[in-house]
Amino acid sequence: MANEQIGIQLAYVVAAALFIFGLKFLGSPATARRGNQISAVGMLLAVVAALMDQGIVDYSYIFAGFIIGGAIGAAASRLVQMTAMPEMVALFNGFGGLASLCVGIAAVGASAGTFTLFTVVLSILIGGVTFTGSIIAWGKLSEKLGNLKALPNQKMVSFAVVGGLVVFSLLFIAFPGGDLWLLLLVALALAFGVLLVIPIGGADMPVVISLLNSYSGLAACAAGFAINNNILIVAGSLVGASGIILTQIMCKAMNRSLSNVLFSGFADPVEAAAAIEGEVKPLSVEDAFYVLEAATSVAIIPGYGMAVAQAQHVVNELRELLEKNGAEVVFGIHPVAGRMPGHMNVLLAEADVPYDLLLEMDEINPRMDTVDVAIVIGANDVVNPAAREVESSPIYGMPVINVDNARTVFVLKRSMASGFAGIDNPLFFKDNTRMIFGDAKETITGLIREFD
Ligand code: TAP
Repeated sequence: MANEQIGIQLAYVVAAALFIFGLKFLGSPATARRGNQISAVGMLLAVVAALMDQGIVDYSYIFAGFIIGGAIGAAASRLVQMTAMPEMVALFNGFGGLASLCVGIAAVGASAGTFTLFTVVLSILIGGVTFTGSIIAWGKLSEKLGNLKALPNQKMVSFAVVGGLVVFSLLFIAFPGGDLWLLLLVALALAFGVLLVIPIGGADMPVVISLLNSYSGLAACAAGFAINNNILIVAGSLVGASGIILTQIMCKAMNRSLSNVLFSGFADPVEAAAAIEGEVKPLSVEDAFYVLEAATSVAIIPGYGMAVAQAQHVVNELRELLEKNGAEVVFGIHPVAGRMPGHMNVLLAEADVPYDLLLEMDEINPRMDTVDVAIVIGANDVVNPAAREVESSPIYGMPVINVDNARTVFVLKRSMASGFAGIDNPLFFKDNTRMIFGDAKETITGLIREFD
């Protein structure tokens, strides 16, 4: 092996090790930043080594792509709001899939053998599905596509598309010269991505995003085989495997099986609404303060609304005041609170809330009946008791944080509007619940002022 090849293969090994350490560090909020930086260094090394490996003749397009892509990435990382991060992740997955699809097409050549053509088919199929599926997921998350539901005769159309994919894949491998089969394959893969994600309900989007993340890894892995590039295979496998693990964690958190998420739509929301009884009891900030002042044990349950209000810093201030007043304060974190995995952890870490105060759902639920006041800050679906009590509810069976077991529950939100899943919440009507209407940041700032 020539010296240059040895250098390239060594660089691949180092890059792969950096990816693995990076992933390890991403496992905890305290080390996540370092994990990201380590992985980024690994990626730079991998890209440079891969370019040398491919024997590039002209770097001008690559350089232009590097500058334009780098500029867009740098701007996006500054401009995108924390609340829009899941949409951004969806787009990242989609572009990853599109890149693998392009690499697959580029690997088609007169000398390509059957194995290479097979891997090309895989990178086109998975890459295409990932691309359009992620675009639909992005549209649903950002509410740009409204509430898209399954198309008429969707099942039949999907079967026809799958049949077409199988037939054209075989034809493409058997008659490699034919551009027609390639084009049809690409078109059907793109169509299948749309068909796959369109019927999936909004509340299941976290599972879909992590599944698409896994697909983008598998597509990269297939593209790696197509162009015979080891580091693409390694990086793709890591993304594919971690994505599927995350998907499983998400499914478990929602008590759903993956097939249930992929193949069943949400029921009509009106059904669940009919079961709610009781009356809504609004509370003023002043009265809420008197209750909190007397509390010795407080649980704070944040949700997506805390991110919208950017209330994490005032939440930490309130925690400090409550602790100074003698109360024990903990945070209850639901695995799908917010709009991305770890959303609440990231926000609370940013506000310097100590990590050991963050309790997972399984830790906080058994002690909820010893809590004097549970303060629900912009959370809705993740504290909805209908998941336990209303069999007809679309979220029936999903584990939630049982805030209604606390002595008193304060719900901080702006209106009676539903959360992401679009279903009503009987918690707001319970005897021990008090609604404190208003923007979460303003309400908490008001409470802090009362303490001063
Ligand atoms: P949601 O159920 O979406 O409820 C958020 C609540 O925050 C809303 O009811 C809203 O009510 C309130 N809110 C919005 N802005 C506010 C503000 N400025 N001040 C105070 N309240 C505000 O949130 P959740 O309980 O965190 O549940 C998450 C949902 O998102 C689940 O259904 C989950 O499946 C889904 N999801 C999760 C993820 C991941 S991975 N975490 C990804 C995609 C989707 P008002 O409008 O009345 O204020």
